[in-house]
Amino acid sequence: MENMDGPRVTHCERCPALVESRSRIVNGVGPEDTDLLIVGEGPGEQEDSEGEPFVGRSGAELDEKLGQFGIAREDVRITNCVRCRPPENRDPTKEELGNCRGYLEHEIELVDPELVMTVGKVPTEHLLKRDVAVTKEAGSVEDCRIGGESRTVLISVHPAAMLYDRSQEATFESTIEEAAALIGAGGNDQSRLDSF
Ligand code: URA
Repeated sequence: MENMDGPRVTHCERCPALVESRSRIVNGVGPEDTDLLIVGEGPGEQEDSEGEPFVGRSGAELDEKLGQFGIAREDVRITNCVRCRPPENRDPTKEELGNCRGYLEHEIELVDPELVMTVGKVPTEHLLKRDVAVTKEAGSVEDCRIGGESRTVLISVHPAAMLYDRSQEATFESTIEEAAALIGAGGNDQSRLDSF
């Protein structure tokens, strides 16, 4: 894949505004052969400075909730729809999402996860290609085609949503619990995805 070495983007200048605002390209982290791939929106300030997705405050919330349901951060892959920090943390534009889409599709193809969990509105709508009321639909599973393959997507609220509205915590927790059940994590070795 052009500009990539395995699941990593090595160089890219497709989005002039992001080339300007980024310190570096932030690639996905975690094993390349894992059952769960978590997809966020794009790097924030902390991620841009450390070069790793979800290492700021929302990353700490994500790690804690994963751990609560027997999923270690190190055992899953975590990536983003765009790999360069947008200026002032604005949402990535449609064009920027499109420019980065092939990289995400290639990463998903290589990792070939049992389950893709989208956290937040931007990644959920980007992958499902429809409008999504994330708070309402969180915890639901949908099959969709990504890069020519059928994938199972679990919709989640973004962990940052909990930071602003603690009432979203229960929604986030039950979605992570559902992810753990679907991949058979936390001592539940019979993946429910086998029966899909
Ligand atoms: N939010 C995201 O969507 N991705 C990150 O990497 C960090 C925060």
